[in-house]
Amino acid sequence: MLSYRHSFHAGNFADVLKHTIQTLIIESLKQKPKAFVYYDTHAGAGKYSLFSKYSNKNAEYKDGIEKIWQKNNPPQEINTYLSLIKDLNPSETLQIYPGSPLVAHMLMPKQNRLELSELHPTDYALLEQEFNHLRSVNIKKKDGYKHLKSKLPPIQRRGLILIDPPYELKDEYNDVIKNVKQAHRLFATGIYAIWYPVVSRHNIERFCNQFKNSGIKNILRIELNIKQDSNEYGMTGTGMIIINPPWKLAQQMQQVMPWLLEHLKQDQQASYKIEQIVNE
Ligand SMILES: C[S@@+](CC[C@H](N)C(=O)[O-])C[C@H]1O[C@@H](n2cnc3c(N)ncnc32)[C@H](O)[C@@H]1O
Repeated sequence: MLSYRHSFHAGNFADVLKHTIQTLIIESLKQKPKAFVYYDTHAGAGKYSLFSKYSNKNAEYKDGIEKIWQKNNPPQEINTYLSLIKDLNPSETLQIYPGSPLVAHMLMPKQNRLELSELHPTDYALLEQEFNHLRSVNIKKKDGYKHLKSKLPPIQRRGLILIDPPYELKDEYNDVIKNVKQAHRLFATGIYAIWYPVVSRHNIERFCNQFKNSGIKNILRIELNIKQDSNEYGMTGTGMIIINPPWKLAQQMQQVMPWLLEHLKQDQQASYKIEQIVNE
C-alpha cells in the first residue's frame, strides 16, 4: 500500500526533530577525515515546495519549521540545520523544505556516497530528477530494507542509516525491529537513526521496549511531545531511536530540546525526553 506522500507533512515538527538530529550526526561523522556512507531507506521526494497543494492542505510546516526558522538566538547546536533552511530560502518567505536526502547531500563531503530507496512511483521520479545526475548518489526503486542489507557493510566501515517509514500499517513497527536487527548483524558499528511518531503511547512504549530487549547495545531515545498524549487520532509527539549515537549527541540535544519545546509546544503538558535506553 503506497498512499503516504511526505509532501503533506514536509517541515512539520517531526521533520524538525528528525532533520536536526540528522544534521548533528552528519556533522559528527565529518569530524574525522574519513569517508562515510549515508543510507536513506525511505527517502521520499528529496525536496518539497511549501506552496504546493499538498503542503497547503494542512499546512503542517506552520506548526513546525515556520515557527523557528527566523527566531533570534537559537542554541548554536541547531544552527547548521537552520542555516541549511535559510540557504534554500534566501528571501524572507519560506518556500522550500529539504527532505532527508537533500539535508544529507547539502552537508556531506561531495565524494561520499548516498544510497537512497523510495517505492512510491511519483516520489521516486522526483528523487531521480533531483539527484540522478550525481555520481555519488545511488537511487533505487526498491524496498528500503532490502536495498540497505544488500549494501552492508560498507567498505568505508562508517555510515549513517536513516530509517523513516510512514507507519501506515501496524506491522511496520515489527518490520523496523526485524530489519534493524538484521542490518545491525551485518554492520554493528553503523549509526542507525530510526524515526517514530507518537500516536498511541502504548504502541510506542512497546516499540521502544523491543529495542531495549533487542540485544543491541548503546541506544539513545530522543522524544518531543508537543502536547499531552491522547487516544484520539493524530500525532502528539515524535521521536528518534539512535543506535551508536555520536558521543556528544545527547549533550547537544540537551541544549536544543528546551528551545524546540518552548517554540513548538501546543499545550502545557508538552514535554521532551533524552534517555539512554541501552548502555554501551
Ligand atoms: C516519512 S516518508 C520519508 C521522508 C524522508 N525520509 C524525509 O525525511 O524527507 C516515508 C517514505 O517511505 C516510502 N516507502 C514506504 N515503504 C517503503 C519501502 N518499503 N521501501 C522504500 N520506501 C518506502 C513512502 O513512499 C514515503 O515516501
